[in-house]
Amino acid sequence: MTSTVSHVYPVIWQKDQVLLIDQNRLPAEYTLVEIKNSDDMALAIKTMIVRGAPAIGVAAAYGMYLGAREIETENRELFLTQLEKIAEKLRATRPTAVNLFWAIQRMLNTARRTLGPVEYLQEVLLETAKNINLEDLKTCQAIGDYGLEALPKTPEKLTILTHCNAGALATAGYGTALGVVRSAWREGRLARVFADETRPRLQGAKLTVWECVQDEIPITLITDNMAAHCMKQGLIHAVVVGADRIAANGDTANKIGTYSVAISAKAHNIPFFVAAPLSTIDFSLIDGNQIPIEERDPAEIYQIGKTLVTPEGVDFYNPAFDVTPANLITAIITEFGAVAPSELKQFEEKQAV
Ligand code: MRU
Repeated sequence: MTSTVSHVYPVIWQKDQVLLIDQNRLPAEYTLVEIKNSDDMALAIKTMIVRGAPAIGVAAAYGMYLGAREIETENRELFLTQLEKIAEKLRATRPTAVNLFWAIQRMLNTARRTLGPVEYLQEVLLETAKNINLEDLKTCQAIGDYGLEALPKTPEKLTILTHCNAGALATAGYGTALGVVRSAWREGRLARVFADETRPRLQGAKLTVWECVQDEIPITLITDNMAAHCMKQGLIHAVVVGADRIAANGDTANKIGTYSVAISAKAHNIPFFVAAPLSTIDFSLIDGNQIPIEERDPAEIYQIGKTLVTPEGVDFYNPAFDVTPANLITAIITEFGAVAPSELKQFEEKQAV
């Protein structure tokens, strides 16, 4: 199947360094940050210059190569031991998005399986990182096209609600949830996207809107607490969101607020889809209770920009993700097709690590 391409690539390998779109500065400024070593890559992931599960995975893969390049030994065993330390550093950046751990593991496995001198191992690691990047682009295009098939057949032109940013910016360059949107737009099946602003960091307002404007996809921004009302008014035909980690039973961790959207969709009989590559599925977890949930700086809640929005001295709780139970999910759309959450297991052997 052919697909329209986005022209937004958040992680770019150029000559001997990585360029990241600084997602903290969008939409006010489009800036590329140069990443030349693994420390800077770890910091870029932690501070969310690069964010979104698949994009974090791609960035971490390049981070592993940059780290491998820094290791000064010709001894293979010593090289592998030090590479494990780079892996530890990158793993410690963000806990929920499993693509981070998946990509790091794939890089480690590649290094262990490859025979030859250290210099050759380093070259192979760069090639592997580039492949992970390229594969994600193709994977998202396949997700987009399978998603298009899974969408409701009526009305002819759909309005799709999404939460957070699961777009080109969050992947190698096409998007998971927004990949489905892009494919629907290409085929004339999309009326418009509704984007939740996605408190507290506003990825919907800042990133999803910016991305759709780049591609001239019609978009309406709402605040998170308007979603149920819009559903009740009949404005939404389907919900499509991304994922940070999906347990073997289909329970899905995604940006905080996704669970409320899923409950609202169920109450209004609106199909709720999760779009994600196999690299987002953690088959080692039986259900979503075991998914680690990142807690972030409370300043994200008590400040908007630099302005304090609440009295000082109260308590805060800032979980960055929630878990939507599988029974609220109509289908999970992967690069191998859209299936009911209970049928995910069939893909376990296809997951490349
Ligand atoms: O905290 P973020 O911005 O990294 O969270 C991103 C999300 O929750 C996305 O929906 C998810 O990673 C899927 S991206 C294709």
